[in-house]
Amino acid sequence: ALVSLRQVLDHAAEHGYGVPAFNVNNLEQILAIMEAAQATDSPVILQASAGARKYAGEAYLRHMVLAAVEAHPDLPVVLHQDHGATPAVCMQSIRSGFTSVMMDGSLREDGKTPASYDYNLAVTRRVCELAHAVGVSVEGELGCLGSLETGEAGEEDGVGAAGKLTHDMMLTDPEQAEDFVRRTGVDALAIAIGTSHGAYKFTRQPTGDILAIDRIAAIHARVPNTHLVMHGSSSVPQEWLAIIRAHGGDIKETYGVPVEEIRRGIQNGVRKVNIDTDIRLAMTGAMRQTFAKERSEFDPRKALLAAKQAARGVCRERFEAFGSAGQA
Ligand code: G3H
Ligand code: 13P
Ligand code: NA
Ligand code: ZN
Repeated sequence: ALVSLRQVLDHAAEHGYGVPAFNVNNLEQILAIMEAAQATDSPVILQASAGARKYAGEAYLRHMVLAAVEAHPDLPVVLHQDHGATPAVCMQSIRSGFTSVMMDGSLREDGKTPASYDYNLAVTRRVCELAHAVGVSVEGELGCLGSLETGEAGEEDGVGAAGKLTHDMMLTDPEQAEDFVRRTGVDALAIAIGTSHGAYKFTRQPTGDILAIDRIAAIHARVPNTHLVMHGSSSVPQEWLAIIRAHGGDIKETYGVPVEEIRRGIQNGVRKVNIDTDIRLAMTGAMRQTFAKERSEFDPRKALLAAKQAARGVCRERFEAFGSAGQA
């Protein structure tokens, strides 16, 4: 059944686990996530960005997710809007049947310019009033995602701040988090701790100076009843990078957030873990491999099936590693 984010994350908090939130754009990604969730008996968070809505169209997205719910009647499924840039975007998603919306007021309406604290408070509070009136959960964001190594938002496809960010902007302040939660009423809070979107997060295996997992406990202590969210949480598996490179792909040296670090985050209060890039890498690797090995193949289902299976493997590993397996 479709349920709210609050319901799923309250259960996760009570039992001390984390739930991966996977971005979806198409049928194969939804199939992969649902099959992995069914196999591991995990609650599901499907999230769609503005880019996903543009790619698939509002009606297709909605009906594909409704089909997933119908096909898996025993699994709780959250349909969450990722990175809403304005209250209007959040309202469109609520009308479309989403059970949770993210109002990302850390950036202005353009989704690029870092916003003032007062702006973030005002838009997030407004979305909370509207969404909560109809039982929809709200995720806010405090702090800007960005690389503590370079000061870049690190997003190659347009989601995230443009230009340089200061060190302070990229680390959520625990005291401000308490004020933000009290004045907005958000159910979930995305925090900035040095992660960024996309494949290029770190130029080396991250250590505490560039991935501030230690800050999570201090934030959690200030907002114990609000569920913390880690964005930019792909692990960027070196195995998939190698497969992509071995079959004609060009991906520079790069490192993601190790699963072990995410597990530490969950131990310290993280409940929702956003993952898009890992599914992209696995699907691209599997498709390149299939077409390279079977050069006369022209049925796209061959490559798409391999892509789905690769994505399913990633999802299954995350459900198990984050402790949501067995909790549906
Ligand atoms: O927040 C970023 C997600 O990876 C969504 O990316 O805007 O390309 O759909 P997208
Ligand atoms: P990744 O790019 O690390 O997968 O992060 C996705 C994300 O945060 C979506 O909101
Ligand atoms: Na989100
Ligand atoms: Zn994100």
